[in-house]
Amino acid sequence: EKQGYQHFMLKEINEQPESLKRLLALYLDDDQLDLGSTGLKNNWLQDYDKIQIVACGTAYHSGLLAKYLLEDKLRLEVEVEVASEYRYRNPIINQRTLLIVVSQSGETADTLAALRLAKKNGATVLALTNARDSSIAREADLLLYLNAGPEIAVASTKAYTNMVAAFYLLTVDGMRQRTEISRQEVQAYQTALIKLPELLRQVIEHTGAKVEKIAEKYAVQEHIFFIGRNTDYTLALEGSLKLKEISYIHAEAYPAGELKHGTLALIDTGVPVVAVGSRIDIFSKLFSNLKEVKARGAETMLITIENQDFEASSVDYLVELPEFNQYFVGLLTIIPLQLLAYYTALFKGEDIDQPRNLAKSVTVE
Ligand code: M6R
Repeated sequence: EKQGYQHFMLKEINEQPESLKRLLALYLDDDQLDLGSTGLKNNWLQDYDKIQIVACGTAYHSGLLAKYLLEDKLRLEVEVEVASEYRYRNPIINQRTLLIVVSQSGETADTLAALRLAKKNGATVLALTNARDSSIAREADLLLYLNAGPEIAVASTKAYTNMVAAFYLLTVDGMRQRTEISRQEVQAYQTALIKLPELLRQVIEHTGAKVEKIAEKYAVQEHIFFIGRNTDYTLALEGSLKLKEISYIHAEAYPAGELKHGTLALIDTGVPVVAVGSRIDIFSKLFSNLKEVKARGAETMLITIENQDFEASSVDYLVELPEFNQYFVGLLTIIPLQLLAYYTALFKGEDIDQPRNLAKSVTVE
């Protein structure tokens, strides 16, 4: 069932354009966004004072990304928390809270417990899940089905992409309800979403060989750092988790501006630093952090959008992505990040689909 691929993970990375299309097909009718089948009301935004997003691991990272977009575009407060913390700390929940739980498997024990806690306290629960018959899907009030197809590799790839895309859909649906935002802007975002699968396909096609070469160098490393700002920081977190999970290399992700508050002390000759830089509005800020690590001898990799102006001498490895809508372009960086983890683990000869100590579905707390 690997259809010629050496691993399920690589198969699932390559499936992303198609699985994203399947999600969009569920909620874009004649190119018009319609989330009615989730159970969300047409004007849901007015019913809530805040959104809480609760999940674990990769699903949690999709929520971190969503906070940046939802707060920016909807001006509604968004809290994001890992489920194992949320459930044991007496969080503030009421009838005007929308709890969004995110889970590929729909069976993660802590996420399910968080759902039950929020429901008991009067919140409305929306589940973003890839398993329609799961406990989380059954117990939630509202269901946005991710439709990514079965994900076999323990490392989550295509489910993450559809989680982020599902948050894109929610963002645009919320924008539609705000009179401050023009119809043209909403339409432009909708049109951009429809183009996203094709862009993912192009990025897979154009970055694979390059990332494979970089990974060969990374396979001998002990520590790798990831930096980014804004949504790119959340992608850096996801890239570092993926690398840890399957290559067993110690990786950490930081908001780029936070390095000089301690972590910079670890940057020395030859230490690899991956800078995720899809946010052009703050690219110069990220780049000055990249120069700081380069000046301390780091070996730098930059993932950014083509046609940027920067000093090439500060960048050892460059991966360029096509220009695209500023809010959605970040998702394209996940492809080189996933491939970097995959090929690094491959060069190390690790068990990519079944990493040690981990299970696909974490049904115990
Ligand atoms: O099934 P879930 O989305 O609830 O799983 C949550 C995490 O266990 C999961 O994302 C985990 O972090 C992945 N193995 C990461 O690749």
